[in-house]
Amino acid sequence: MDALDLEFEDGSFDAVWSVEAGAHMNNKNKFADEMLRTLRPGGYLALADWNSRDLRTYPPTFIEKLVLKQLLEQWVHPNFISINEFSNILRINKNSAGKVITDNWNYYTNPSWYDSVIEGIRRPFAIVSLGPLAIIKSVREIPTLLLMNWAFKKGLMEFGVFKCRG
Ligand SMILES: C[S@@+](CC[C@H](N)C(=O)[O-])C[C@H]1O[C@@H](n2cnc3c(N)ncnc32)[C@H](O)[C@@H]1O
Repeated sequence: MDALDLEFEDGSFDAVWSVEAGAHMNNKNKFADEMLRTLRPGGYLALADWNSRDLRTYPPTFIEKLVLKQLLEQWVHPNFISINEFSNILRINKNSAGKVITDNWNYYTNPSWYDSVIEGIRRPFAIVSLGPLAIIKSVREIPTLLLMNWAFKKGLMEFGVFKCRG
């Protein structure tokens, strides 16, 4: 189902959660609208996502622009927005209770990028058994996984977590 056009009635759920999907959405306002619309008043929304730092206040350097271009194109992300920008989108939404709690979990999540590569080496059969195309696709992921690690470590990217109520 398209997260930007959910086929659920208003207020259908006690809780709505999303993990690492918002970066794929080409309309972050509509993404927030749909999650909060389907949440019942007083219900909880919890979200974890790949955000950039605030690029308007802290514009990317030339190298960072190249890295962002790769991260956007390789995994089909239309754009990244900052934790603050998405927090504001949630805060002012008509179905939100208005208070949004956020944090940056870079420190906790960053080891997972290396782990993703190491896991492919540790258990190659999981990939090899899927055939030559899977091998090519997996190898192609490695530079992006390492760039993700670099971008999060440098603070160009931020692992945003958000909590608010309907
Ligand atoms: C990085 S994956 C995260 C998947 C899962 N949440 C997880 O943690 O393993 C991003 C997911 O967002 C999904 N996605 C992208 N655009 C979407 C849309 N408009 N509606 C629903 N899902 C979408 C993709 O199909 C993909 O499964």
